Amino acid sequence: MDHFLYRDGVLHAEDVPLPDIAAQVGTPFYCYSTATLTRHFHLFEQALAGMDHLICYSVKSLSNQAILRTLAKLGAGMDVVSGGEYRRARAAGVPGERIVFSGVGKTREEMVLALNDGIRQFNVESEAELVILSDIATGMGVRAPITLRVNPDVDAKTHEKIATGRKEDKFGVPISRARDIYAQAAQLPGIEVVGVDVHIGSQLTDLAPFEAAFTRIADLTRTLRADGHNIRRLDLGGGLGIPYTTSNETPPLPLDYGAMIQRVLGDLDVEVEIEPGRLIAGNAGILVAQVIYLKQGEGRDFLILDAAMNDLIRPAMYGAHHDIVPVIEPAPGFERRAVDIVGPVCESGDTFARQRDMPPLGAGDLVAFRSAGAYGAVMASEYNTRPLIPEVLVHRDHHAVIRPRPSFDEILNRDRLPAWLTD
Ligand code: LLP
Repeated sequence: MDHFLYRDGVLHAEDVPLPDIAAQVGTPFYCYSTATLTRHFHLFEQALAGMDHLICYSVKSLSNQAILRTLAKLGAGMDVVSGGEYRRARAAGVPGERIVFSGVGKTREEMVLALNDGIRQFNVESEAELVILSDIATGMGVRAPITLRVNPDVDAKTHEKIATGRKEDKFGVPISRARDIYAQAAQLPGIEVVGVDVHIGSQLTDLAPFEAAFTRIADLTRTLRADGHNIRRLDLGGGLGIPYTTSNETPPLPLDYGAMIQRVLGDLDVEVEIEPGRLIAGNAGILVAQVIYLKQGEGRDFLILDAAMNDLIRPAMYGAHHDIVPVIEPAPGFERRAVDIVGPVCESGDTFARQRDMPPLGAGDLVAFRSAGAYGAVMASEYNTRPLIPEVLVHRDHHAVIRPRPSFDEILNRDRLPAWLTD
């Protein structure tokens, strides 16, 4: 459930009519709902109630500081994967002790930054990283709290580009070698082992792969404890999928996911961390765009929008489906007609939907892409020198621009001409 509903024939974000925001900030723009973010966060809290846990929101899914602060105020920790994301989380007011640092390629600079400013744990992904982290921590006179991200060799049955838990994927250390690497970690002076980490992929629509992975992690935890390691935290990653179409998708509910976690890991006496991104942010955001032209092609019509693949890359990159709805509700009895919905960017990949049945729409009409909160704004680029589009956060009947549209001067002034060209 989200909070983008028609009222009196006009799509609203909570209590704010979207045409009002469009009139103020121009199109296209992203719009997020505080109530939806809050609701989704609370679903995970309920799902893990009774278990020692921390929900570390995956910053990469939607990283605006206003979003991070909204979630931090509800008690969220954060999962970051770069020094930039770490800085964002800290700037949004999240204490270091509530930040976990994931990623296969952490640099020395990122390790120093997090060790200096506070970190809950590093989720280490290789022996090489372990050794460097130990060196750096020793040099700073501290010990770095770590989990090892274990690759359980489980197929998440999701899109090829976002599956991460098979042995051919670049992530984690092979589960078959985990015992050896934990033994090595225990010998390193700058390392303090605190737990085990796993993340098998994103947009999972079935609990079975999660359960297979968590069962392996539970077995490994028992083995590691028998080896003498103090495993007190299990980071289970993120990945729970969301429905992208209102019709035929029914991914598992957070409550069922939580019940499974409690069943598989409940007797281990560990603190559980999860790193959800999409389930919290995905349906809490929409992208609003305007139709520029309706163009008749050979045997098909094109709805040309002012939003493009640089604003929302998921359809071009993963063949992803986003429901696209008119902001003004069509009159009852309207006739749907199949159109291709495209952006103005100069490549055919800039297509949001092919032969999508849509109500009548023409130049100037507003449309909203649903489920665009996660991996939308954060994956945007300025391809075709199209400015990054504004982000707006709604809270009941209030709304605020949380990232303004940059001016063309700002964009152009980032370039520098070398001396030999400034005659
Ligand atoms: N933890 C780790 C270590 C991750 O790599 C990810 C996502 C998450 C947590 C959050 O997963 P979520 O709960 O959001 O599924 N751009 C793609 C998704 C990439 C996901 C990358 N990792 C998309 O638009 O579908």
